[in-house]
Amino acid sequence: MNNKFYSYGKQTIEQDDIDAVVEVLKSDWLTQGPKVLEFENALSEKFKTKYVSAVANGTAGLHLIGLALGWQKNDIIITSPITFLASTNCILYNNAIPDFVDIDKDYYTIDVNKLEEKIKSYLGQGKNIKAVVAVDYAGQPCDWKSLRTLADKYEFQLVNDNCHALGATYNNDFGYAVKFADAANLSFHPVKHITTGEGGAVLTNNEELDKKIKMLRTHGVTKDEKLMEKNEGPWYYEMIEIGFNYRITDMQSALGINQLKKLDSFIKKRREIAKHYDNVFSNEEKFIIPEVNDNVEHAYHLYPLQIKFEELEINRKEYFEKLKEKNILLQVHYIPVHLQPFYRKHFRFKEGDFPVAEKFYQREVSIPIYPLLEDKDLEHIAENLKKFAK
Ligand SMILES: Cc1ncc(COP(=O)(O)O)c(C=O)c1O
Repeated sequence: MNNKFYSYGKQTIEQDDIDAVVEVLKSDWLTQGPKVLEFENALSEKFKTKYVSAVANGTAGLHLIGLALGWQKNDIIITSPITFLASTNCILYNNAIPDFVDIDKDYYTIDVNKLEEKIKSYLGQGKNIKAVVAVDYAGQPCDWKSLRTLADKYEFQLVNDNCHALGATYNNDFGYAVKFADAANLSFHPVKHITTGEGGAVLTNNEELDKKIKMLRTHGVTKDEKLMEKNEGPWYYEMIEIGFNYRITDMQSALGINQLKKLDSFIKKRREIAKHYDNVFSNEEKFIIPEVNDNVEHAYHLYPLQIKFEELEINRKEYFEKLKEKNILLQVHYIPVHLQPFYRKHFRFKEGDFPVAEKFYQREVSIPIYPLLEDKDLEHIAENLKKFAK
């Protein structure tokens, strides 16, 4: 057996990435220097968005989006239960009320029909929702056209948590993320498509929103004369909001610039791996491969394979242990957020609230997908996944 370890995701760092970071280390600016703007400009061009704010991580990006959109106490904000905690926690950072809408059983993104039902039920109680944070889970874009139609009809804000879907297309459009949503956020964590270690970015076409985000990511401070009460000289600045230090560094930005150049080839490799897995598992009774909507190209941050554990002799825990013995470290994405103790306790969610998500959680296994995997790795992984599914 080979002695490599296979986790569900992993970065690809090459010599030119290392050189780019070292160059910054030898320069005058480790942070707040020219590389940050250069990274933002490169992202703006790649994702066809007018404004970009690079930030410390994807979670910080979501926090800033909520602040800039003016989320407040008692605002109702909806997301999907099959997501990373950050998509929901950003609602709590702003003291708003989180709620969920179940996922679509085929595509695992928010079910737009159930969303409209939920909005109508809130309207029946005399309430409207403030925003929806829709997650392009695993790398598959949501039904953005329908989401935009609902947002216009019921007047709510639309956020794209795009952390899984860098490089996906929707109706052949690479820049779909901010075409439909008011703002989108990206993450450059090492398991994602491109990495800066920790890092993220907020994309928007709304100038006012962008200005707020840029101010809030650096302590709520401005040097803009139009916003200041007075100007006492070149040193002078004013703090006009309560902000944070959510900045990214120049070393990270240099890495990001270099990684972004490779995004297309990374995505190509991820799609090839997904195709390989599709071929291996599509005819296997015990497995359900992820379905891809006709009008999208999936970015495969994850390959969420469903395994019908309920039909197997081995249970999920034993299966994970068996695969670990073969150096294959599986993961589950995600434990439905509404079932986390904090959300149960503070918001009274319970088992059975979102049955499609809960059933998906029982079966979902994220299997290794990242550009460094070679054919022989894929064979080792697929062979063992099949072997133990008895
Ligand atoms: C859907 C989603 N949203 C937000 C985040 C937060 O990103 P970060 O880890 O960069 O804070 C993640 C990270 O895994 C994520 O998967």
